[in-house]
Amino acid sequence: MTRKVTKAIFPVAGLGTRFLPATKSVPKEIMTLVDRPLIQYAIDEARAAGIKEFIFVTSRGKSALEDYFDHSPVLEQELEKAGKTALLETLKTTDMDSGAIAYIRQHKALGLGHAVWCARRLIGDEPFAVILPDDVIAADKPCLQQMTEAYAETGGNMVAAMEVAPEKASSYGMLDVGEDSGTTVKVQGMVEKPSAGESPSNLAVIGRYILTPDVLNDLDSMKSGAGGEIQLTDAIASQIDKQEGVFGYRFRGQRFDCGSKSGFLQATVAFGLARDDLRDDLAAYLREIVHIDKAAQ
Ligand code: UTP
Repeated sequence: MTRKVTKAIFPVAGLGTRFLPATKSVPKEIMTLVDRPLIQYAIDEARAAGIKEFIFVTSRGKSALEDYFDHSPVLEQELEKAGKTALLETLKTTDMDSGAIAYIRQHKALGLGHAVWCARRLIGDEPFAVILPDDVIAADKPCLQQMTEAYAETGGNMVAAMEVAPEKASSYGMLDVGEDSGTTVKVQGMVEKPSAGESPSNLAVIGRYILTPDVLNDLDSMKSGAGGEIQLTDAIASQIDKQEGVFGYRFRGQRFDCGSKSGFLQATVAFGLARDDLRDDLAAYLREIVHIDKAAQ
């Protein structure tokens, strides 16, 4: 029997340099897809997967994130007085129970592996999830829920995986695939950001993980890896030869890289088109500009 996963780490201490100057004062995770900040999508996905404890690894300048999860009594009173019940309900979906959220500081952006390691004392001796909020996944069944269901069968460590074009492999942690049973693959090696032509497969790791607490022991002794950062990939890779092993999970859904400008724009369009209140206007506008663009060619 595998233990239920009830804790998730949200590493949000990165500098977000690709979104400067915005991220000079706005944390990347507060930037909005339509009308909800990236972090809300991540929290909703975690809740759907049964997560009860939410651990944020933050850094200087991220206080807007803490405020976002606080109650806002004045705003609530005003909406109530004005009879804006629908908005009030929307606002309440962002409420978090007292004690459900913990914030830990990463004092220096030493890498994703280091950020996860910073939360080690709150994890203790149980399996935990890691969610990178800048990977937003549109799916009928939320990605982490798909993974916790698969994990109940496999145990061990699990990473979300998706196929990428060979020329994109150098931007990801890439999997060396052993036994492949379709949705789940056994991982026999991992390479962070391989050089061109050196990727062992076209299966890339994206920002959802279910990890054993032993990964935190591996991170204890980690040195800097690719790009001079302490890489989570390296710590997960050191689990491959241990008893529990590492599995790649081919999730069903569309992933948007909202850490990049182009990915963020694509997600904005996709999530806008998925909304009943916006679809018609947005689709008409897109048709119009595509038409103008084609005519100009
Ligand atoms: P990224 O590689 O996207 O880095 O981090 P970044 O700083 O957020 O953005 P750019 O590249 O400068 O634009 C992936 C995830 O890991 C977290 C980030 O907050 C993001 O969620 N992270 C990264 C940390 O928490 N600490 C780190 O030291 C590095």
